[in-house]
Amino acid sequence: MRVIVTKNYEEMSKKVAQLIAAQLLLKPNSVLGLATGSTPIGAYKNLIDMHKALELDFSKAYSINLDEYVGLSEESDQSYRYFMNENLFNHININKDNTYVPNGLELDEKKACSNYDAILEKLGGIDIQLLGIGHNGHIGFNEPSDSFSVGTNCVALAQSTIDANARFFSSIDEVPRKAYTMGMAGIMQAKTVVIAASGQAKADIVKQAIYGKVSPEVPASILQLHANCIFVLDEAAASKL
Ligand code: GLP
Repeated sequence: MRVIVTKNYEEMSKKVAQLIAAQLLLKPNSVLGLATGSTPIGAYKNLIDMHKALELDFSKAYSINLDEYVGLSEESDQSYRYFMNENLFNHININKDNTYVPNGLELDEKKACSNYDAILEKLGGIDIQLLGIGHNGHIGFNEPSDSFSVGTNCVALAQSTIDANARFFSSIDEVPRKAYTMGMAGIMQAKTVVIAASGQAKADIVKQAIYGKVSPEVPASILQLHANCIFVLDEAAASKL
């Protein structure tokens, strides 16, 4: 594991974008594992800038996102598909047919999950996976539990996650209670994992993920076992290390 500490959110975002851009330059048809939440927005802005100013080329790239709320369509501005279109895909030259997000409107949970695992298999796995971290240590929407999930699964969101994500909705009642998330197999099989965290509020969980016991109670702790995982933190998120 490598830990890179940057001065602030802007520097963290730049570093994350550079890691993704380097992957794309080395292998233009890379499979990019992408994440949502506030943390990666700055990195996506940097990638858009690199696309515009330096012609960073996404035309041959594929992307697969970690998760999606159950019940939200891609037109819903709270869905993760909408988020990805708005924050990245609409501003770069990726072929949207090569971008994947779980289908939130597929209410047959088994079907939704096995379809997504089949897509991941067809893509041949992920070259570089970007992750944020929830306050309870979740990655994707893999919530603390008594065992690590393996494949794509449908999760009941933890109350702390519902509370944390309520800021994106007009009221807490609108936050979906369930989500589809890629499991640990997809994440751990990624050739490189980049996990980003910013701000004092993430300092405790970042410390637990890096130094704590590897345990499904802190899902991000599994990354201690990944052969090529890079934590990119700002000083505040790294302040308890
Ligand atoms: C959500 C997402 C995660 C993300 C987490 C942290 O629950 N499913 O992928 O890492 O929130 O979000 P933020 O970056 O806004 O703190």
